[in-house]
Amino acid sequence: MDIFEAIKKRRSIRKFSNKEISKQEIDVMLRMAMQAPTARGEKPWHFIVISDKVVLKELSYALSNGRMLAEAALCIILVTDKASVTSPDLYPQDMAASTQNLMLAATALNIGSVWLGTFPNKERMAKVESIISLPDNFEYFSMVALGYPKDESDFKFIDKYDPSRIHYDRF
Ligand SMILES: Cc1cc2nc3c(=O)[nH]c(=O)nc-3n(C[C@H](O)[C@H](O)[C@H](O)COP(=O)(O)O)c2cc1C
Repeated sequence: MDIFEAIKKRRSIRKFSNKEISKQEIDVMLRMAMQAPTARGEKPWHFIVISDKVVLKELSYALSNGRMLAEAALCIILVTDKASVTSPDLYPQDMAASTQNLMLAATALNIGSVWLGTFPNKERMAKVESIISLPDNFEYFSMVALGYPKDESDFKFIDKYDPSRIHYDRF
C-alpha cells in the first residue's frame, strides 16, 4: 500500500476481531513510529507494548475513553523520556508525529487503530500510571488501541478536504 492510500484508508477503528497481531507486525509498526521527525533529533520516545488481555481489560475499565481496549489485540503506549529533551515545549510534537507514523503503519498492514488522547490530561495519565507505573522522568503521552477490524468497512474513506482552510501567501 502506498503512503497516499494508507493516509486515506486510516480511520479510527474501535471494534476489533479476535485475530492476533504478529511479533513481526509489531516490529514493523515500532520501526515506522521511530522514523518520525523530532526536534533536535532527540527521539524522546519509549513504547510499552501491551498484549496481556488482563492488563488490556484493566485499562479498558479504568479509562472512559478506552473502553475498546477490552477487545483490542494490543495497546501501544507512547511515553516520553523527559530527561532526554532539551526543548520541553516541543516534545509533544515529536510524540504526536510518532503516534501518527505508528497508526499509518498499522493501516498499511490492514490493522485498525485508534489514538487515545492521554497527555496532558492529568486524570487520564494518573489512571494509566495506577496500572503501569513508570520510572521518574517518564510521562505518558498517547495510547494506541490496535486490532484487525471486526468490520473491514470501518476503513471507509471519508474525504475531509476543505479548500476554505487553505490560504496562499496571506490569511
Ligand atoms: C489527540 C487525539 C486524541 C484522541 N482521543 C481519542 C479517545 O480518547 N478516544 C477515542 O475513541 N478516539 C480518540 N481520538 C480519535 C478521534 O476521535 C478521531 O480521530 C476523529 O473522530 C476523526 O475520525 P477518524 O480518525 O476516523 O478520521 C483521538 C484523536 C486524536 C488525534
